[in-house]
Amino acid sequence: MSLIKFLIRASGLTGAGGTLPFEPTPEQYAQLQKWPMVRDPYAAEKDYHPIQRWLRWLKPAQIQAYRKYNTVRNNQIKAGEIDFQKYFETVPRPISREKWEYLKLRKSWYIIVNWPRFAGEDCRRILDCACGDGDVTQRLVDYVADEWKKTGKGHELEVVGIDLGPSRIENAQRLTTAPDPRITMKFFTGNAVKEIAYPDNYFDYAELTGVFAILDDVSADALVKNLSRVVRKGIYIEDPYDRHFGGFPRKHLAKLFEPYGFRVEKRFICLQEPFSLFKVPDPCRVFSMGRIQNLWLVRD
Ligand SMILES: C[S@@+](CC[C@H](N)C(=O)[O-])C[C@H]1O[C@@H](n2cnc3c(N)ncnc32)[C@H](O)[C@@H]1O
Repeated sequence: MSLIKFLIRASGLTGAGGTLPFEPTPEQYAQLQKWPMVRDPYAAEKDYHPIQRWLRWLKPAQIQAYRKYNTVRNNQIKAGEIDFQKYFETVPRPISREKWEYLKLRKSWYIIVNWPRFAGEDCRRILDCACGDGDVTQRLVDYVADEWKKTGKGHELEVVGIDLGPSRIENAQRLTTAPDPRITMKFFTGNAVKEIAYPDNYFDYAELTGVFAILDDVSADALVKNLSRVVRKGIYIEDPYDRHFGGFPRKHLAKLFEPYGFRVEKRFICLQEPFSLFKVPDPCRVFSMGRIQNLWLVRD
C-alpha cells in the first residue's frame, strides 16, 4: 500500500470503514492482466526513462492527483494529525479477496520480488518486514515455487511476515496460501522498529516494500539496525523515491545499510504505472505516477 492511499483514506475522501473507494470489477482486473509485467517482471525498469520525471507533469491527471494529495497532506500537517505509527497500529482494514488480488497484480508493476536469491539453495528463511496484507509475500512464495518447478529443485523454506497492524495480519493469514508443501508461511503482529524478536542471523533474506518512507530518521535507523542483526545475506527494498508522496522518501536509502556491511547488488528507479502522457493506464486509478526506488542489497 502506498502513502498516497493512506492520505486519501485519512483525508476522509474515502467511503465508510476506511477502505479505498473501489472494488475492482472483473473487467478492470482483465485490463490489468494486459500490462507488460505479466510477461516480464522487469517491464517497469525497461519502460522508465529519466525524462519521464519531467514529462509526467504534462499529464493533467498527474497534476490533479498531486494537488489533491498535497492539499490533504498540508491540511493534516497543519492540524498536527500525522502519526503514521499510531495510524498503522490501530486502523481497521479488512480487504476483500478481489481487491487483494487486484492490488497484488497492480503492485507487481513496480514491486519486483523476482530475485533468484530468494529461490536459491542457501535461502531457508525469509522475513517480510511490515508485510501489510501479505499480497507481496504471496508473490514472493509463488515466484520461489515457480523457480523450483523450472529447475526441479526445492527445499524446506520458512517465510515470516510481521506487521504493526493486527487487521493487516488478519488479512494476510486469511488470504495467503503456501504454493508448495515445503513452504511454511507465518504472520505475526509486531513492531519492527522496536524489536524483531528472532535470534541473530535467523533469516537469510528479507523484503521490505513501502516501509521506510513512513518512518522518520530515528525509526528508520532503528529498523536498519534490527534488520542487520536478524538478516544474514540480503534484503530487497521497494520504496517511494519522490518527495511529493510525503512521508520520508530517501534517495540515499542504501547508505543506511553500509555500516552493517550491505552493498548494492542492483538498483533502479521506475514509475508506479506504465508511462503514458495523456491516458491513465491504471483501470482503478489507484496511484499517481510517483517514482519508486528498487534496491537489492547483499552482504558477502
Ligand atoms: C505502505 S504499507 C506496505 C505494506 C506491504 N509491505 C505492501 O507492500 O503492501 C506499510 C506497512 O508498514 C507497516 N508498519 C508501519 N510501521 C511498522 C512497524 N514499526 N513495524 C512493523 N510494521 C510496520 C504498516 O502497518 C503497513 O502495513
